[in-house]
Amino acid sequence: MRNVVLLGPPGAGKGTIAVRAAEELNLSHLSTGDVLRDEVARGTELGKKARGFMDRGELVPDEVVLAMVRERVRGREGVLLDGFPRTLAQAEGLAEFLPVHVVVYLAVGKDEVVRRLGSRRVCASCGAVYNLVTQRPRTAGRCDRCGGELRQRPDDAPEVVAHRYEVYERESQPLIEHYARQGVLVSVDAARPPEAVVADVIRVLRS
Ligand code: AP5
Repeated sequence: MRNVVLLGPPGAGKGTIAVRAAEELNLSHLSTGDVLRDEVARGTELGKKARGFMDRGELVPDEVVLAMVRERVRGREGVLLDGFPRTLAQAEGLAEFLPVHVVVYLAVGKDEVVRRLGSRRVCASCGAVYNLVTQRPRTAGRCDRCGGELRQRPDDAPEVVAHRYEVYERESQPLIEHYARQGVLVSVDAARPPEAVVADVIRVLRS
């Protein structure tokens, strides 16, 4: 089975698309952001190391994230990586323990992602992602799946979003060229409704 990387700016819809594509294609979804938030919530050593970086919208150090991913993908195939790699060093480290067969770049502009993150809400219990404009819950403030409380992520505050975007441009955008040179990059227009984007991503991954 092929291993897939979903690449794109904060708010491009990586998580939204990954959940649906992984289910449809029977891939094993690994979101480094979700793993790190879980470590922070449980107060583990890793969570304590990561928290400050995440709150400031900085990247957690490469060696920490690489070790975390290496441990979680060991012996697995058909992995869908969401939010990793994010630096050239991470991409090079990943290549040593997992082959990347396809990289899907979710292309969407800065104004749109800033709008999306301002209206994102996340279930405090199960982590399901909503949007007050484009993916509203059936009952205001409550998760459709588990009834949990919907909250704003601390790093979705406008000043942190602006910084996360700068970090993305500096650290992660070079990966587009990196994977294009390897001939594994496919670009998908992600400035469309989620259903259209996920349909395209699934088509790409089936072909
Ligand atoms: P992470 O959680 O990975 O954050 P991110 O990459 O900034 O991405 P987001 O989760 O904000 O957005 P997304 O693209 O998943 O969009 P979503 O589907 O939610 O990382 C958080 C932090 O952890 C980092 O800042 C860093 O500190 C650390 N970290 C994580 N990985 C790391 C790594 N590899 N190295 C170092 N540090 C790392 O959608 C956003 C909103 O838009 C939602 O409301 C959604 O409903 C809506 N939406 C989605 N798609 C559409 C659409 N097509 N049209 C309209 N609305 C849409």
